Amino acid sequence: MSDIATHSQLSALIRHRRSIKPVDMDAMRVVGRALLTQVLEDATWAPTHGLTEPWKFIVHQGAARQRLAETMQRVYRETTPGHEFREDKMKKMSENPLLAPVVIACVMERRGGAKIPELEEIEAVACALQNLQLSATAAGLGCYWSSPPLLGTREFADWLQIGAEDRCLGLIYLGWPRAGLNWPKSVRKPVESKTQWCDD
Ligand SMILES: Cc1cc2nc3c(=O)[nH]c(=O)nc-3n(C[C@H](O)[C@H](O)[C@H](O)COP(=O)(O)O)c2cc1C
Repeated sequence: MSDIATHSQLSALIRHRRSIKPVDMDAMRVVGRALLTQVLEDATWAPTHGLTEPWKFIVHQGAARQRLAETMQRVYRETTPGHEFREDKMKKMSENPLLAPVVIACVMERRGGAKIPELEEIEAVACALQNLQLSATAAGLGCYWSSPPLLGTREFADWLQIGAEDRCLGLIYLGWPRAGLNWPKSVRKPVESKTQWCDD
């Protein structure tokens, strides 16, 4: 047990994680299969009510990213009402999957039947995705959770070949940060403003 991170190391890791956009990743630098597998395995150690393990990871690399990009554009075109359609979004969908070496479609698979509420299965997958991001960050990878509305369409779900009750909750872009990247900064409100103490 002695190699488990100390509390302060874990705290530092959590605070160091940032959303690193695909444009800030090195598209040419491969993320090895062993590392990717470890990061995904870390994801699966999330809490899961009833041990249903409701996650599924559909990993796109190489040419599969192009097929993902084309599908996103097709579904966006087919499902977006005219007045909401934006060319800049279409462009991003064609570029982003090719800027990152790995794009993971992260799916909540309904495995618990009616016993476990859907919300709890979504929560479990969200926990898994935070595990994934922290593990990736510890390895020096950049990662970014993207959730364009088209992920929720039947068209996209059919392309992923997921069940009628399953939901794609996000695309996680993964890659090595590009050389010279200034690690982004972020802010959070003081925890006191989010905490109600009930102790008397
Ligand atoms: C469920 C979820 C969905 C997200 N979807 C998007 C998204 O579609 N586009 C985006 O730019 N960021 C998305 N993000 C990332 C947030 O924008 C990001 O976490 C936030 O700006 C804080 O920055 P940080 O991750 O560097 O702390 C998502 C985050 C979560 C938890």
